[in-house]
Amino acid sequence: MRVPDELSEDQAMSQVVQSRRLRAIDIGKRKAEGRKITALTAYHAHTAGIVDPYCDFILVGDSLGMVMHGMESTIPVTLEMMILQAQAVIRGTEKALVVVDMPFGSYEASREQAFLNASRVLKETGAGAIKMEGGAHFAETVAFLVQRGVPVMGHIGLTPQAVNTMGGFKVQGRLPDDERRLLEDARAISEAGAFAIVLEGIVEPVARAIATSPRVTAATIGIGASAVCDGQILVLEDMLGLSERTPKFVRQFGSLRTHIEEAVKAYAEEVRAGRFPAEDHTYG
Ligand code: KIV
Repeated sequence: MRVPDELSEDQAMSQVVQSRRLRAIDIGKRKAEGRKITALTAYHAHTAGIVDPYCDFILVGDSLGMVMHGMESTIPVTLEMMILQAQAVIRGTEKALVVVDMPFGSYEASREQAFLNASRVLKETGAGAIKMEGGAHFAETVAFLVQRGVPVMGHIGLTPQAVNTMGGFKVQGRLPDDERRLLEDARAISEAGAFAIVLEGIVEPVARAIATSPRVTAATIGIGASAVCDGQILVLEDMLGLSERTPKFVRQFGSLRTHIEEAVKAYAEEVRAGRFPAEDHTYG
């Protein structure tokens, strides 16, 4: 691109980059300013559009396998599923940073595999960052991606993709060595260049040790990891009261399941009674 003589480089860039969307770097700024970071998951254009004005970032989580598709775990989720839903979320939003989960099997084999799949996610969706589960053993992969232009969010503690090795979805931090191990995981991922780390299902004292550690400069985003974190995330369907089961760490801010059921019941009754559609809903 030729930068006209009379424009500064910044002005020239502003003509090209129109988007007001937050970037990974803005999440770090929120932490530096002591402002709490707000995030929710979303998988669809319409729900993402509702969430967008209120969240700093929206996570297209691989929880979509369980929430949208009724899978028992996130293990069967594919890269294609993530890309499809991330495209929908990008179409429905304009402000929040969109972060996309790397599904099981798409990044663990090597740092090269991780880069090829992460770059595919960024190219095909327009998302601003990816999220990867795993601790210190993934630090090298995190550094490899960040050095090549892929903003990375880490995810430690209860990592659902490890359900088969963890033996279930278990709260972390209760065993004698857990604090040292989880702190080391957070430090390694942060020092490798991750801009944020999701702390999932971690007992408060351990979450506190991580969130207040001077060596963890990445923003800590809690889900079941107490208010000590720099920000919070919940699965949208859980906080709306749409999910069948509500984990302990979720507060239901709505009761959509009941509302939807009432609406569907009323619709079915009106159709059966011949009261819907009425004249108002009929083309003359
Ligand atoms: O997949 C997901 O929705 C997540 C959040 C629970 C953090 O990873």
